[in-house]
Amino acid sequence: MKDKLKRIMDEALTQINSSEQLDKLNEIRVNFLGKKGELTAVLKSMKEVAPEDRPKVGQLVNDARLAIEEKLEEKRAAFAKAAREAKIAAETIDVTLPAVRPKMGHRHPNTIALEEVERIFIGMGYEVVEGPEVEKDYYNFEALNIPANHPAKDEQDTFYINNDILLRTQTSPVQVRVMEQGKLPIRIIAPGRVFRSDEVDATHSPSFHQIEGLVIDKNITFADLKGTLAEFAKELFGKDTKVKFRPHHFPFTEPSAEVDVTCFKCGGKGCRFCKGSGWIEILGCGMVHPKVLKMSGIDPEEYSGFAFGVGLERIALLKYEIDDMRLLYENDERFLKQF
Ligand code: DAH
Repeated sequence: MKDKLKRIMDEALTQINSSEQLDKLNEIRVNFLGKKGELTAVLKSMKEVAPEDRPKVGQLVNDARLAIEEKLEEKRAAFAKAAREAKIAAETIDVTLPAVRPKMGHRHPNTIALEEVERIFIGMGYEVVEGPEVEKDYYNFEALNIPANHPAKDEQDTFYINNDILLRTQTSPVQVRVMEQGKLPIRIIAPGRVFRSDEVDATHSPSFHQIEGLVIDKNITFADLKGTLAEFAKELFGKDTKVKFRPHHFPFTEPSAEVDVTCFKCGGKGCRFCKGSGWIEILGCGMVHPKVLKMSGIDPEEYSGFAFGVGLERIALLKYEIDDMRLLYENDERFLKQF
């Protein structure tokens, strides 16, 4: 009996020592100490032992149980310790390592240019307003004196949603929306996105931005328009900048003009930048057509005004000497980082 007990105990201890997982320990516990375990079987066979030997054998079984339990606990603690140490090692943070710098974004060149233009006009007492990008044909064309058969309405140039609704091709419809509100005088700029069915190239994109300007008051003349835009050009491109008004045609202004500024690269002498002419075209403008005023409920006998429209990308390209408009939309960080 004694030998049998020793054999069982040795076997249990060897198994415990060589076990490599916590699960294995539970298995060993069940196999030796469980209800159907080997040691329990010995206790059950106690009736075969002579009564006088029973206390002794009982003692031996108990000792064996204690020894096995102690070993199991020792091994379990060792597993727990190893697991804890592995976890700590895996979670170690080296506080001396340099931190990963968060990437800071910054304003897009278009935004920088827009904020510059807004700053200039706000300084002259203008208000910044916005209008919808999905616009009614009436506001985009009709109310701007562009009748149904006008070439500017050519389907080639315009994204129509249906006969009456389109993606605005210009910011000029905002003029009409503001005039219709009936609050006078008016002194606003209206920046925003516009759409045209254009192929993408270095100077064209199906979606770009314009900034519209509108002033309506009593006694507004072409002199006010000239003075305002001359001031704007000086603020934007430098105090020595001169402006030149070239006669042009826009349906919603009469008279109309295109405005050139002296090349800020060569000062007007002529260079690669201004293609040798010394001048760079920057915007369209004119005195608001009496028909346009009338359609929006303003009496052209009492009020007059001027309007202008600038391409935002054009300003950004000129100001930052970017030679391809596509760069503004590609979101290449190596490019954007430079501004
Ligand atoms: N809307 C015109 C365009 O997209 C630009 C323009 C010209 C706006 C003259 C005006 C203006 O307000 O008076 O080509």
